[in-house]
Amino acid sequence: MKVFIVTGSVCTGKTTLAKLIAKKHHAIYINVNELIKEYKLYSNYDKKFKSYIVDSKKLNKFLIRLIKNSRNNLVLDSHLTHYLPSKYVDLCYVTKCELKELKKRLMKRRYSKEKVRENLDAEILDVCLVEALENKHKVKVIDTTKGINL
Ligand SMILES: Nc1ncnc2c1ncn2[C@@H]1O[C@H](COP(=O)(O)OP(=O)(O)O)[C@@H](O)[C@H]1O
Ligand SMILES: [Mg+2]
Repeated sequence: MKVFIVTGSVCTGKTTLAKLIAKKHHAIYINVNELIKEYKLYSNYDKKFKSYIVDSKKLNKFLIRLIKNSRNNLVLDSHLTHYLPSKYVDLCYVTKCELKELKKRLMKRRYSKEKVRENLDAEILDVCLVEALENKHKVKVIDTTKGINL
């Protein structure tokens, strides 16, 4: 049983990549953001940012149980997956995208100016990559700017 996680800034191609990995490795695709809503794995809702404040302890506990109970390969899709302890994860993919293309993708999603800026900043600072490395994951970076080569 293998566990793949896919993290990265918003619109860098996590979901697209995760679904490709699921096909390639005959793994079950798991939309972690849906799980967070369905099982209320958040502590609060931030009205200003229109987003849930996720309780990462609760989320990790939930995902670890899911991993332990699974007999299939799994692909977990979310920018919060790299908070999982690395011992439960075989490979952590981090998606990246060049800023010009990323801005286009974010605007297409009709985010506010602030939200676009915030997400571009997260990509510039490599927040997910830095945190994934800090968390001792085995990391593979995939640039999706011009398509995905797995
Ligand atoms: N390799 C790619 N080439 C072109 N467009 C892509 C690529 N990967 C993703 N996109 C586009 O970028 C947007 C965001 O992709 P998505 O996979 O939903 O990102 P995320 O899950 O990280 O938010 C979508 O509109 C998608 O079609
Ligand atoms: Mg997505």
